[in-house]
Amino acid sequence: MERFLFVLGSNWQLSIAELDNYLNYSQNKGKIIDYSANVAIVEFEELHQDPYYINKLMEIQFILGGCQKIAKIYDFIDINTIKDAFPAHINKFKYVEKTRKKILNVIDNLIIGKTGIFPKIYESMFFAVSIYPNLYDDEYYTNILVKHFLPFLNKEIMEILKQKGAEKTLYYQYPQKNIKSGNLNPIFPHHIIKYELLKEHRAEIIFGFTEEGVYIARTFTTDDPNFKKRIDEERPYKEFKSAISPKLAIIMLNFLNLFKNREKKRILDPFVGNGTIALFALLQDFQIYGVDRDDKKVKNTIRNIHWLLELLDEEIPPFFNKRFLNKDARNLTDFFEHYFFDGVCTEPELGPFYTEKPYYTQAKELVDTKLMPLYNEFFRESYKILKPNCRICLISPIISTLDGNDIEVNIEKIANKNNFTNVPLLDLNRINNKSNQKLRFRKQHTKALIDAKKGQIIKRKLYIFEKSEIK
Ligand SMILES: C[S@@+](CC[C@H](N)C(=O)[O-])C[C@H]1O[C@@H](n2cnc3c(N)ncnc32)[C@H](O)[C@@H]1O
Repeated sequence: MERFLFVLGSNWQLSIAELDNYLNYSQNKGKIIDYSANVAIVEFEELHQDPYYINKLMEIQFILGGCQKIAKIYDFIDINTIKDAFPAHINKFKYVEKTRKKILNVIDNLIIGKTGIFPKIYESMFFAVSIYPNLYDDEYYTNILVKHFLPFLNKEIMEILKQKGAEKTLYYQYPQKNIKSGNLNPIFPHHIIKYELLKEHRAEIIFGFTEEGVYIARTFTTDDPNFKKRIDEERPYKEFKSAISPKLAIIMLNFLNLFKNREKKRILDPFVGNGTIALFALLQDFQIYGVDRDDKKVKNTIRNIHWLLELLDEEIPPFFNKRFLNKDARNLTDFFEHYFFDGVCTEPELGPFYTEKPYYTQAKELVDTKLMPLYNEFFRESYKILKPNCRICLISPIISTLDGNDIEVNIEKIANKNNFTNVPLLDLNRINNKSNQKLRFRKQHTKALIDAKKGQIIKRKLYIFEKSEIK
C-alpha cells in the first residue's frame, strides 16, 4: 500500500483536522495513520492506483489550506533503530556503526530505480534533505538530528549517488550557523520551486519523524505561498489588523464540506469586510456572495475581487457586483431567498481592535450586549437562507482581559437555540492519539480549535455548525 507524507501548516492541529475532514468526505477517501506536529502520514483508499495520481495530489495540495508539501513515502525506519544509530551519548561504537550501516542499507535500496526516489542516474544530480521532527522543541532534534543525522545523510547520499555513477552531485547546504545552534527549519516551499526540486534529477528527500520512527519520502507537490501572499498583500484594499490569513480562509471554506461541483455552490460571507474569505472562495471556484453594513468595506471587496479576476485573466461574470451588498447581517432574509446558500463562511464582528487588554467588565459588556445579540440574529437568519444540512464555519473571539482571564461568546448555546448542531472538527475514532502530551488531542471530539499568535488579545476560535431539521 502506497503511503504519502503531508507536511502540515504552522497550526498543526487545524491542519490535521482539515486533512482528516478532506479524507473523510471528499472523493479522495483515505485515513491519517500516523502524525506528529509537522507531518501526517496518509493512506488513500484508491488514489494511489490512478496512473495520474500526481495530478490528483496537486489538486489536493491546491485545495488544502494547511498543507505545505505532499511527498511519497518510500520506506520507514523505526525510532529504536534511529536512536541506536544516533544516540544522545555514544558508548558502544561498534553497535552505532552497525546500526548506521543498517540505515544506509535502507537508503541505498530506495535511492535509485523505477520505484526509487530517483528513477535513474543522471549526469548531474541535486538533492536537499529536510528533517521534520516530531516537535521542534525536541532536544533530540536540536542536538542530534540537526548536528549529526543531517550531515550523515548529506554525506552518505552523495556517496551513494557517486558510486552509482552520477558524475556531478550537489546537495542543499543549510547555513552553518543554524546547524551549529540546532535551530533549523527544513527548506520552505518557495525553495523547492527556486531549486527546481520537482524535476526528475533533483529532489527534496524528506525524513519525517513521528513517535514511531522516521518516514523517508520524496516531495511531489508544494504549496505556492508566493501566489497566496500576493493576493493577500497586493490586493488594493486590506487591513491586516482585522483580516484572517489566506490559509485560515481556505481551511474554513474546506470545513463546509463542499468538495464536488464547487463552481455551482453558493457561499455567503455576511461580515465580508475587505473580502479575504471572498477572494479565496473565488480562487477555489465557489460562487461567492458578501454582505457588510459598512458601505466602504463592500466597495473595497468589489474592487479587490475585480483586481483578482484581472490577475487571473478571467472575465467579470454578469451582475457580479450585485452579489456584494451593503446590508445588515441581522436581516439576511430581506434580500436573499430562503434555502439559497450551500454554506456560510465568516469572521463576524469580533469587537474593537484592542491595543491593550480590556478590563474584564468592559469585555463582558461587549460580549453580552453586542456580540451575543448580533450572533444570535445572524444564526437565526442563516438558518433560513441555508439549504438543509448545510454548514456555517465561523470564527468566534476569545478576549484576554487585564485580570488574566479569557472571555468568550457562548456560541454553542446560540447555535443550538437556532437549530444548528456543533460538528466536531476532529473525530478521534479516525485517528490514533499520541502518548506525548504536546501531541495529544484531549477530547474524543474536538468541538473547536484556536488560531492565535502568542500575546494576541483577541484569539480566533473556529467552529463548524450544521443546520439541523426542526423536529
Ligand atoms: C472582523 S471584520 C471581517 C474581516 C474580514 N474577514 C476581512 O477579511 O476583511 C467584521 C466585519 O463585519 C462588519 N459588520 C459588523 N456588524 C455587522 C452587521 N450587523 N451586519 C453586517 N456586517 C457587519 C464590519 O463592518 C466588519 O467589516
